[in-house]
Amino acid sequence: MKSNLKFLALMAYGRFRAWRREPVRFRGAFASYEAALRDVRSGMPAGYDHDAVTDVSREFMQQIALWDYPMVYWLQHLQPTVLIDAGGHVGVKYRAFRPYLDLQRTDWIVYDLPAQIRAGRAQKEPHDHTLSFVDRLEDAPAAEVLLASGLLPYLQEPFADLVRRLQAPPRHILLNKVVTRDGPTVVTLENFGVAEVPYQIRNVKEVPDALATLGYEIVDSWVIDQLAHRIQTHPELGRCTYRGYVARRLD
Ligand SMILES: C[S@@+](CC[C@H](N)C(=O)[O-])C[C@H]1O[C@@H](n2cnc3c(N)ncnc32)[C@H](O)[C@@H]1O
Repeated sequence: MKSNLKFLALMAYGRFRAWRREPVRFRGAFASYEAALRDVRSGMPAGYDHDAVTDVSREFMQQIALWDYPMVYWLQHLQPTVLIDAGGHVGVKYRAFRPYLDLQRTDWIVYDLPAQIRAGRAQKEPHDHTLSFVDRLEDAPAAEVLLASGLLPYLQEPFADLVRRLQAPPRHILLNKVVTRDGPTVVTLENFGVAEVPYQIRNVKEVPDALATLGYEIVDSWVIDQLAHRIQTHPELGRCTYRGYVARRLD
């Protein structure tokens, strides 16, 4: 009884914060990406594709985090000569992983939204010589590895469609920071301070099903406990689970 009351009070407080459109980190629970976009506060840039968003968390993402180590392990094992880094931002993971991998022989190609690609090209330094950027995924050469770290919460198009846009299906797909829940997919709005960005918490079966449809088997997976969080305005939806996957093409 007491815990039910506490739960109801938390829910009511969450809704009050949603109604006031408080600038909490995660606000709202929408049925679609488009519905979340429509709720962005007026005057706030919507989505990731803005120059002002490029610096948000850049330094943090450019450092290696605990949950990056499975990626580093698999990249060391696979040693791809060509890798496509979808949602690679300005090349943050190239720089974060460089001290741990021999990237001299890896053609590391970042695909991202125009604002990030612009900034990535401008920030490229002479010693980033195996790092390059493409504006269109279709322009990237065939790669052994598709890396998508932190992309899935923000990716509007179905992941399978993104993979089908590649010139050739890669042998391995490495995914990290896929945000999941047991119930239906929910889209919330992440507050970046300088913009609000739709953020997808996907049903836990969505990505494994997409990989199976594309003809891949999951050969490794992990859970990142440190990143789990609730939507402040909708605490009753529970904590989401961050996951990573390595998938290999079956043929
Ligand atoms: C959180 S950052 C991830 C950066 C880095 N890969 C990491 O793991 O730290 C998410 C990236 O996904 C990109 N993104 C969002 N939608 C995208 C799309 N449709 N196509 C390509 N990149 C997209 C964003 O611009 C952003 O750079």
